[in-house]
Amino acid sequence: MTRHVAVTGAASGIGHALAALLTARGDEVIGVDLADAEVCADLSTPDGRANAVGGVLERCDGVLDALITCAGVAAPGRLMISVNYFGTTELVTALRPALAAADRPRVGVVGSISGTQQGDPRIVAACLSGDESLATARAEEAVARGDARQLYPSSKAALAQWLRRTCVSPGWADAGIPLNAVAPGVVLTPMSAELVADERMREVMREAVPMPLNGYADPETVAHALAWLTAPENSHITGQVVYVDGGAEATLRGPEQF
Ligand code: NAI
Repeated sequence: MTRHVAVTGAASGIGHALAALLTARGDEVIGVDLADAEVCADLSTPDGRANAVGGVLERCDGVLDALITCAGVAAPGRLMISVNYFGTTELVTALRPALAAADRPRVGVVGSISGTQQGDPRIVAACLSGDESLATARAEEAVARGDARQLYPSSKAALAQWLRRTCVSPGWADAGIPLNAVAPGVVLTPMSAELVADERMREVMREAVPMPLNGYADPETVAHALAWLTAPENSHITGQVVYVDGGAEATLRGPEQF
């Protein structure tokens, strides 16, 4: 039977590669993005998220086989928190009933190797408490004091912690819904294009995100990992952050962290 799979960020990069892969496999993909998607919605606002949920429910007739959230932003500011964290967690939560109605529902989210770096614990805490106003206010304060580097790690660390909490909370594992993340290193998409084009930044990234296994990844590589984690074959893996990072996490964290 055709699976209905919602993919956020489907207009570009990893989400686009994933939508193409799943479509080629015969899934009915419901792309969600700001534009150029089946459901055009802004995941940075509660109203936009409600529109996204409504659009997805309409297209899957209330039964969603998988949800994969790839939408994200890399420019420091409140959007980084609103899209990367709340644009995922609120959407996943709102679509849980439609997932629970499916035969073998699956959820995948996209974190980052950056989630292992030092974030701002106050922003992470505000995210985890579900207080978007506080989290975004703290993000703006960080930008104002010239300390925006912690924002992206904060958004992705909060997402990973939310995933660990949620996957075994009532309504998820006990309802047969695996919830996993992939955490890429550097992926060659429009998001990273400027960084990768700059030799000085490539030098910085050699230290910050060392990728001894095959270097920078193509979006298709990350898409394949997401496709497997959200396929019916994945019946028992949940709450995992799978690093698709060419060895960066193993290099940076060493053998004692696993
Ligand atoms: P991308 O920029 O190519 O695609 C992101 C997509 O998200 C775009 O289509 C964009 O329109 C959509 N989006 C942004 N804001 C939105 C909003 N408010 N509402 C709806 N859609 C919105 O980026 P890429 O590289 O494909 O990133 C996908 C995910 O992978 C992101 O979560 C990113 O943080 C993560 N990631 C990317 C890495 C990289 O090196 N490219 C590394 C690690 C993680």
